[in-house]
Amino acid sequence: MNELELAPMVDWNAYAQQYDMLLAYNPYYQATFTNILSEIQGWEIAPGSKLADLGAGTGNYSVELAKNFPEALVLHIDSNKNMNAMAAKKAAGLTNLEIWNQPIEDTTFNGGSLQGLLCLNALYTFPNPLRVLEQMHTWLSPGSPVVFLDPGRVMNVFSWRMAIGWHLISKYGIAQTLKIFKHAKVVGKQNAYIRQMQQSGKYWTHSHEEFCQAIEKAGFSIEKASICFRGDCDLVFARR
Ligand SMILES: C[S@@+](CC[C@H](N)C(=O)[O-])C[C@H]1O[C@@H](n2cnc3c(N)ncnc32)[C@H](O)[C@@H]1O
Repeated sequence: MNELELAPMVDWNAYAQQYDMLLAYNPYYQATFTNILSEIQGWEIAPGSKLADLGAGTGNYSVELAKNFPEALVLHIDSNKNMNAMAAKKAAGLTNLEIWNQPIEDTTFNGGSLQGLLCLNALYTFPNPLRVLEQMHTWLSPGSPVVFLDPGRVMNVFSWRMAIGWHLISKYGIAQTLKIFKHAKVVGKQNAYIRQMQQSGKYWTHSHEEFCQAIEKAGFSIEKASICFRGDCDLVFARR
């Protein structure tokens, strides 16, 4: 067995099947989702604009972008076919959303050709996040709005289980909570792999300050920055 086979790897294909349990049951994912959507709804996007969601997963946000800006084209970009298949189901009937099944490493745009961008819970998984930040800056036209959300701290999977467990018990009772946890086994397993990849340095970890500095260094102007997801994630609203 070689080193690669022994190394823990997140299986995004497996994660895709249960990923939307986060939106259904994780109050922290839900709160951030609501916060980001209300911010996006205030964007002024001209007809014919191009918006991109990088590492767009099951389409929770890209589909909302497409619904909110029917006269813009939304590009949902993700390297995982199962994540994209889930997104395609949600996007049924939307004519202004394209799903690009490709890694960020193979993605490029002409300078200034995007008018808005999301990169949520994904930057830390990219092979060279600082370079991607710089590329994003060149792809956007001046003044374009962006949202970055990134888990920068090493995830404490046990503490997360406890926090969500208490929330679910108070909302659904013990029997239903046990059922949900059984169903969400894949999520726990993949999060444990994410933790190991963060610890080994394969996934980017950062403090809130380091995250904001990286965004500013790439040329963006930060409008609002906060910490969410029980202290693990950084949320930044910025402009090119
Ligand atoms: C935690 S999910 C986030 C999904 C979505 N943005 C959300 O917040 O609900 C991370 C996503 O990044 C994608 N991803 C990981 N590495 C990637 C890469 N190199 N290029 C493109 N997408 C990648 C995964 O397939 C996965 O769908």
